[in-house]
Amino acid sequence: MPFSPDIPPMTARTEHRGEVLPLVARALGLWRDGRTLLDNVDLRVEVGPLTVIMGPNGAGKSLLLRLLAGLIAPDAGSVTWAGRAPDRVRIKRLGFVFQAPVLLRRSVADNLRYALRAAGIPKAEWHERTASALAEVGLDRLADAPARVLSGGEQQKLALARALAPGPEVLLMDEPTANLDPTATAAIEDRVGRARDAGTTIVFVTHDLGQAKRLAGRVVFLHRGRVTEDAPAARFFDAPASEPAAAFIEGRLLP
Ligand SMILES: Nc1ncnc2c1ncn2[C@@H]1O[C@H](COP(=O)(O)OP(=O)(O)O)[C@@H](O)[C@H]1O
Ligand SMILES: [Mg+2]
Repeated sequence: MPFSPDIPPMTARTEHRGEVLPLVARALGLWRDGRTLLDNVDLRVEVGPLTVIMGPNGAGKSLLLRLLAGLIAPDAGSVTWAGRAPDRVRIKRLGFVFQAPVLLRRSVADNLRYALRAAGIPKAEWHERTASALAEVGLDRLADAPARVLSGGEQQKLALARALAPGPEVLLMDEPTANLDPTATAAIEDRVGRARDAGTTIVFVTHDLGQAKRLAGRVVFLHRGRVTEDAPAARFFDAPASEPAAAFIEGRLLP
């Protein structure tokens, strides 16, 4: 890891589950320039509630998500997908959405087709999948528009539609609404909720308490590279068991 780009087209098997899950991180450690960025992080993601990874800026949320995605390798510990190390075939079964959408300078529909091809979806399915993915986020009328003319909110809806179109087993999102206004944020959250209800396993990074309350079934709280708490959302918000989480929820400054 990371993977080389010479990926041959594969036949996608979107009906298959259990190629990535359970996604298990064991005793992850990450160091850079003498600093400990992640320290002994354990995390297990299975089919089930939407997992929110929450914590203040700099806690290590994005790094942890990149490790789970197999995009970077840990200095200690391991990440496994369904019991095996991440690989460049099964990475196609993951969807990613980042804070700043990374789009092709082509049409909206081309962005989707590109993702479907990369995921190995048969060409016969592209038209149907493109149409329904765009309709799900209300972008169907913009299918032929250049992606670069979309508003920030529309671009992120497209990024989400693109991540979901191949039917990923797991969707990983890193602060996808941090740059968006409340209306666009609600639209993204709505689509994420429907993906969850349809059986997509989702790991969602946010530092936004309100958003975590709206979406989370489970909260993993990260502080200074350590998981201080991993709890069902209701319990986490009612009675956080760790001081850093309690301080964060109450809006106190963390040390
Ligand atoms: N490639 C890197 N080299 C050195 N430090 C890094 C690198 N990437 C991130 N960091 C540091 O690791 C810490 C955690 O980063 P990050 O995971 O982006 O935090 P979060 O997403 O929780 O805000 C930060 O202090 C950041 O500066
Ligand atoms: Mg981050």
